[in-house]
Amino acid sequence: MTLRTSPEVGGMGHSIKRKEDPRFIRGKGTYVDDVVLPGMLYLDIVRSPHAHAKIVKIDPSKAMAVPGVLAVITGQDLAKYNLHWMPTLMSDTQMVLPVEKVMYQAQEVAAVLATSRYAAADGAAVVEVEYDPLPAVVDPHKALEPGAPVLRTDKKDKKDNHIWHWEWGDRAATDRAFAEADVTVKEKIYIPRIHVASIETCGCIAHFDKVDGKLTVWMTTQAPHAIRTVFALVAGHVGLAEHKIRIISPDIGGGFGGKVPVYPGYVIAVAASVLTGKPVKWIEDRMENLQADSFARDYHITAELAAKKDGTLTALRIKTLADHGYTDAAANPSKFPAGLFHVCTGSYDLKAAHVEVDGAYTNKPPGGIAYRCSFRVTEAVHTIERMVDIMAHQLGQDPAEFRMKNFIRPEQFPYKSALGWEYDSGNYGGALQKAMDGVGYAELRREQAEKRNRGELMGIGISSFTEIVGAGPSKHFDILGIKMFDSCEIRIHPTGKAIARFGTKSQGQGHETTYAQILAEELGIPAADIQVEEGDTDTAPYGLGTYASRSTPVAGAAAAVASRKILDKARKIAAHLLEVAAEDLVYEPGKFSVKGSPNRSKTIQDVAFAAYTNHPQGMEAGLEAVSYYDPPNLTYPFGSYICVVDIDKGTGEVKIRRFLAIDDCGNIINPMIVQGQVHGGLTMGLAPALFEEISYDEFGNVQGGSFIDYLVPTAVETPKWETGHTVTPSPHHPLGAKGVGESATVGAPAAIANAVVDALWHLGVRHVDIPITPPKVWKLLREKGVTE
Ligand code: CDP
Repeated sequence: MTLRTSPEVGGMGHSIKRKEDPRFIRGKGTYVDDVVLPGMLYLDIVRSPHAHAKIVKIDPSKAMAVPGVLAVITGQDLAKYNLHWMPTLMSDTQMVLPVEKVMYQAQEVAAVLATSRYAAADGAAVVEVEYDPLPAVVDPHKALEPGAPVLRTDKKDKKDNHIWHWEWGDRAATDRAFAEADVTVKEKIYIPRIHVASIETCGCIAHFDKVDGKLTVWMTTQAPHAIRTVFALVAGHVGLAEHKIRIISPDIGGGFGGKVPVYPGYVIAVAASVLTGKPVKWIEDRMENLQADSFARDYHITAELAAKKDGTLTALRIKTLADHGYTDAAANPSKFPAGLFHVCTGSYDLKAAHVEVDGAYTNKPPGGIAYRCSFRVTEAVHTIERMVDIMAHQLGQDPAEFRMKNFIRPEQFPYKSALGWEYDSGNYGGALQKAMDGVGYAELRREQAEKRNRGELMGIGISSFTEIVGAGPSKHFDILGIKMFDSCEIRIHPTGKAIARFGTKSQGQGHETTYAQILAEELGIPAADIQVEEGDTDTAPYGLGTYASRSTPVAGAAAAVASRKILDKARKIAAHLLEVAAEDLVYEPGKFSVKGSPNRSKTIQDVAFAAYTNHPQGMEAGLEAVSYYDPPNLTYPFGSYICVVDIDKGTGEVKIRRFLAIDDCGNIINPMIVQGQVHGGLTMGLAPALFEEISYDEFGNVQGGSFIDYLVPTAVETPKWETGHTVTPSPHHPLGAKGVGESATVGAPAAIANAVVDALWHLGVRHVDIPITPPKVWKLLREKGVTE
């Protein structure tokens, strides 16, 4: 991409340093827990030790005797205001506090309000709850068996634990393609429950001002406007109208999808503040965060792939059982209960596909959030990339050549997939070739063959993924009925400086910098002169927030469109100042000049000043614009990752020797930020591939509920990431940009898993579920008769 602006202006393509970093690296960020208000009270939550139990009695007397404890709040208290249940984002219902029974271990049972954090915790420790344990349903397959205990007894007509059945694609055409196929492969793939484990846990401060009836909530939310609307809908009946609610999302220490839902703690804090008229702070501790907040994934997949003898792929068939825990609180667009899982045909030109998903209730916390991915894309990518690798190996073909043969070709774009998506642009072969050249693929295959002769285990894994980000076109995408557009509002001040506000909310992605760069690119105002604000519903324009890599595709586009509206007016003002017709002006970023007389010109700063001091008669003063951008399509970033592993036969340890990631997110706004996004994303892809899993024993006891056994990789476990990119602009995005924040998390696990299976295929291993831990590999090796 050629640069249109100087480094001083810092438009697109400049690796300018992040504006937000001086405050973060000096410890001067303002996170929710940094906010302290006069007279603030504190909340702590009593949680259930049982996965499924009736509540017989809650005795608050010992807690009330703790100095500083003011109240113990129970479901019965909230029921008086009809606030003991709340709707989920998928139109299911979730308990705020239970009245009859608990449905998972660590569920909220009661809340203690106190004058200090310590008093609240001391109080919570001595609230006495008498339970009558019920049998726990942990396995979603068993949950759907006839005779399984029905969990949602609150739903009067519910006779089983089945939530919904959803299917997409042409079943008959797919069945036909399978019947006609020369070769088919079938595999069961489990994508386990994991947690975003953001550095900052969730929390809020609710402050209801009894005098003006206004509720202000500082909250770790990725979607402040949507939360305000949900609060108004849920609590309108107790007098909280939307104009009397202000959500402020301050600095956020990582969201990754986990800070989209409404958690019970928020609602309890709001209720406590409304009743007391005092600010109430609730901040989760680490174990509460890991054990009770929404989880990701938990997909039990059976996938089948069909091909001709020559290796041409023809059809894909998938059946999935989705474990949603006790309520369907997935953060998906309303029309898509399985998110965008049906992008599972990936980068391949498949003629037929059919996908089915069934949701099941179990005694676990709500699942289904989009862990740093666009609504189930990671699950989709993992499935297709594993299956393509299995098919290549089955046919005895090189996995890279096999992919090259089956990729959607550049000239096929825009490409309509068998499952109905219209991919905007792509050059999959270009990205894979660059990755192969960069890693020295042919040489690595030679080395692998030699090592195999010596009995050593080396594997090379490829993942050539396609993402789908930028939700979304409002004709298909809404959340609880609210269309998924996003917004930007720009005001240029008289001296040519600017403020821009957005409906999104950065959680560490660097929006203050990159949004300013988009304005700099369009308007020619230096990025340093542009203040970017997000996250305050009283000031920012309405938007659906930041998740699913939607900020650049949607709000970034809004920034370009709003800038162009400003330029339309600026052109008229410049024409007025230069006494020429507007059509006689040429524009380059930051400057209008007269055609044929380049010395006669006005800068954007001259124009801004004139907008307030010398605007043409009949024109409104000022220079500002707003755009609510409804994207015509999603964007489809892609990449090819190659991972090289060595496996220790003695310990089963997988050592990543090399990992090269080639990404394509169209035109890049800030290359340094994109590289940072890819580095972080790769580490969050490594995590579930080798380390992280939350599982449950037969009684529903959570395993992996603390950082002692939920193994988040540190710098020690993280290999050196090698990165690069190709550039295939999006044809419909005003800047040609696609999202990138999640690509690496989505693409990395399959590259690692494919490398491990590649190392073990000759031993008869066809698949290993992630996380691929040393004990798992060690056991496999012993089963296959491999010894040290
Ligand atoms: O929605 P979210 O911010 O998580 O994801 P994104 O839109 O993919 O953007 C992540 C970060 O990368 C933002 O700071 C973007 O502005 C930046 N980015 C970029 O510089 N160039 C792109 N083509 C895409 C994203």
